[in-house]
Amino acid sequence: MTDPTIPAPGDLVPPATGTAPDAARPVTSAWTGAAPRLAGRGLVHRFGTTTALAGVDVDLADGESLAVMGPSGSGKSTLLHVLAGIIVPSGGTVTLRGEPVQALSEKKRSLLRRTRYGFVFQFGQLLSELSALENVALPAMLTGASRSDAQAAAGQWLAALGLAGAEGRRPGELSGGQAQRVAVARALITRPEVVFADEPTGALDQQTGHDVMKVLVDSTRAVGSSLVVVTHDADVAAWCDRRIDMRDGLVVPPGSTTGEGVGPRPGEKPGRALPDDLGSARVSDVFGGAR
Ligand SMILES: Nc1ncnc2c1ncn2[C@@H]1O[C@H](COP(=O)(O)OP(=O)(O)O)[C@@H](O)[C@H]1O
Ligand SMILES: [Mg+2]
Repeated sequence: MTDPTIPAPGDLVPPATGTAPDAARPVTSAWTGAAPRLAGRGLVHRFGTTTALAGVDVDLADGESLAVMGPSGSGKSTLLHVLAGIIVPSGGTVTLRGEPVQALSEKKRSLLRRTRYGFVFQFGQLLSELSALENVALPAMLTGASRSDAQAAAGQWLAALGLAGAEGRRPGELSGGQAQRVAVARALITRPEVVFADEPTGALDQQTGHDVMKVLVDSTRAVGSSLVVVTHDADVAAWCDRRIDMRDGLVVPPGSTTGEGVGPRPGEKPGRALPDDLGSARVSDVFGGAR
């Protein structure tokens, strides 16, 4: 008997439409008001005396892409971590298809992240000792696919994202843009319900960053995943179906953070390692371990 929790090989390969942007683009405007795929209500989160989220409501429809913009320190990463079940918020609720997520044990949230979510972070999330192919195959194997099925699907994903020939390279042998494409393939191979991306192009030059974002948005759309992407780049945000702007832990009217305070605050080093900076440690957050 086939175990329904183990993906069939055909479930792992990229869609036949490849990453053609319009082929599988859901018509979000036709959304009928059914429960959103992912919803946050009254989200509050404090780190000690710092209020990172001060009461945020957010909905993510099926197949919808949502850009989260705002100055450094405005709560974007915290919102993403709360929505993804990495952080349990101090207040408020997150529901995935109507099911409250924070009611789940850490073990179940870890399983949820592994099986139903995909993640792309700024850098460092690829396992340096594994090849590109093995990195992409890993999440499929963790959800129960055989090594050979997972690797065959990983090869197809790499080819679909323009990385044919790079399968055997380790992350250190890839350019920044190539590494992020591998990360996108790795996030999508399980066809997750939601992909979370935190400044996925933050370490790339603008052109490479745009190329990677296009691959991320198009391929996420093609597999029918919903996408939450934190970005500083208004061009990138414009490719998403919708955008929210944050300031001081709140969602503020669109555009009110643009041009001012975007990026590091005065006196703050650009790219400083925030306490929650997403290095390789994040892999354990996603695939297991408590926080
Ligand atoms: N792990 C943490 N410990 C303490 N404070 C934190 C932590 N993570 C974030 N913060 C603080 O919470 C606020 C929001 O941070 P964050 O969500 O990372 O903002 P953004 O992603 O918009 O730059 C900031 O004041 C930040 O310094
Ligand atoms: Mg951040």
